[in-house]
Amino acid sequence: MAPSRAFLQRARASQPRKLLAMANVFPSTTAASNAVLASMRSQPTQSRHFSNTQRQAAAAPTHSTEGKRKPLTEEQREFLSSALRVNQAGELAATLIYTAQRGPVVGRDPHLRPLMRHMYEQEAGHLRTFNSLIAQHRVRPTALYPVWSVLATGLGWSTAMMGRAAAMACTEAVETEIGEHYNGQIRKLLEMVSEWEAQGYEVGEEFRTLIDTLRRIRDEELEHLDHAVENDAKKADPHWLLTGVIRAGCRGAIWVSERV
Ligand SMILES: [Fe+2]
Ligand SMILES: [Fe+2]
Repeated sequence: MAPSRAFLQRARASQPRKLLAMANVFPSTTAASNAVLASMRSQPTQSRHFSNTQRQAAAAPTHSTEGKRKPLTEEQREFLSSALRVNQAGELAATLIYTAQRGPVVGRDPHLRPLMRHMYEQEAGHLRTFNSLIAQHRVRPTALYPVWSVLATGLGWSTAMMGRAAAMACTEAVETEIGEHYNGQIRKLLEMVSEWEAQGYEVGEEFRTLIDTLRRIRDEELEHLDHAVENDAKKADPHWLLTGVIRAGCRGAIWVSERV
């Protein structure tokens, strides 16, 4: 069994059954995302902020919670802010890795040009999504933006210079970590939805759309992982060392970007 498939199965199996069932109820994404993003832009600025959206929607306490949204807790607001911050930083890094890799990889293997372009364009789309979301919700970008930019470009360029297999092993390592990272966020958001619904509160369309967007992006990252394995990522030498170092670096960068 290909390792990437094993990863997919493990990632999906790790989601609680109840949450998976709920996830299946959600409509599929791109058109819905665009419509809701457009409607979010038309709302007054203050109501778009995470810290205010749920709070304002929740009226004074009544005996019934029907049609009411529960205010976000401080912890939930912090989680959402750090999630958007780290996602934006990660997608910036991804676009820079592919930009740096494209020249050397395509120079040696011209048949990979469409694949490299396809993956880059998807990453650029992810970055646009999170740029938009952090602006709408007034989330501070990571203060280490310049540092991540230099490191991501260096990682992309150096692995591409080592050869196609090393470049693909870089993608395999990065996308494995990012896939797990998005899965963790999705699981947490679904837990919040589950809790609100159990208490009879309404869950905003904006919130459901965010979950759908994360699931779509997670699936695209896992698609990149599959492409990397199909294009000899496992032939990198030494594969275990290269992917181990890159995966550890990704985890470190995620940990720091969530906080700084
Ligand atoms: Fe991405
Ligand atoms: Fe990706």
